[in-house]
Amino acid sequence: MTAVIGVFDSGFGGLTVLRELRRALPGANYHYFGDTAHLPYGAKSVRTVAKYAISAAHFLEQQGIEMLVVACNTATALAFDDIRAAVKVPVVGVVEPGAQRAAAISRTKKAVVAATEATVASHAYQRALERLGVEATEKACPLFVPLVEEGWVEHRVTEEVAHIYMDEVFQDGARDADVLVLGCTHYPLLRPLLRKVVPPRVEIVDSAESTAARVVELLGKDRGLGQPGDLRCYATDSVEKFRRLGGKFLGCPIENIELVDIEK
Ligand code: DGL
Repeated sequence: MTAVIGVFDSGFGGLTVLRELRRALPGANYHYFGDTAHLPYGAKSVRTVAKYAISAAHFLEQQGIEMLVVACNTATALAFDDIRAAVKVPVVGVVEPGAQRAAAISRTKKAVVAATEATVASHAYQRALERLGVEATEKACPLFVPLVEEGWVEHRVTEEVAHIYMDEVFQDGARDADVLVLGCTHYPLLRPLLRKVVPPRVEIVDSAESTAARVVELLGKDRGLGQPGDLRCYATDSVEKFRRLGGKFLGCPIENIELVDIEK
C-alpha cells in the first residue's frame, strides 16, 4: 500500500527535505505543513516552538498520515520529545540522521554544524554527534535564512557573509574538522556557495538527504514506488508567497496549497 507521509516545517525550508523524500519515495502521498505565519522558529523559545510544532503535528495527524517527518531542525532540536509524545504515528526528526551521516564519513571525528541560533543553543547536534564519537563545533548563522528567503543563494553578499561565518569557525576552533553539517532546512540551497567557501577537505552533509534515507529504511522502498503520488501543502500565511518561494525549495512548481489556521 502507498505510504502517506506528513512533513512539517516552520515554513518553506522543509521542502528541501520533501524534495529528497520524493526522490527516494516518488509514489508516496505527502501532506506538507509550513507554519509560515510563525516563521522563523530559529530565534524563538523552546516553549513557543513546542506549542506551534504540536499544533502542526495534530493537524497533519488529522489528514491521515502514517509517519511524521519533522523537517525543521529547530523544531527537532527543541521539541522532538514533545512532538513524539503528542502524536500516535512514528516521528522522524532531522538531527539524528544528519549526525549519523556525519559520523559515518568523518575521518578526524570532528565536525562543524551550521544552524539557527535556537538549534545551536539547544546543543542537540552536539549531543547527537558526541554519542557517535564526533566532536562538534556549532556555529549559528542567523543571516542565512533571510538571505535564502530573499533568493540570494549565489549573491556576492551571501558569499561574503558565508566567508565570515565559515572562516571564523574553520580557522579557529575547528581546524581539523572534515565535515560540515547543514543543520537548517534553508542551508541546502546554499550548498554550491558553501562548497566554494569551506576548505576543500570538508565534506558537506545535508540532513535532508540522510532524513529521506532514514524514512526509506523505516517504511521500505516498495511503499513509494510508481507514478508520482499526491502532494498537498498547507500554509498558515500567504498561499501566494508559499507558491512563489516554495517552488525554489522543492525544485518544481507547487499547485495544491491551502491556507489553514491552527491557532487555538
Ligand atoms: N526551519 C528552520 C530550521 O531548520 C529554519 C527557519 C526558521 O528559523 O524557522 O532550523
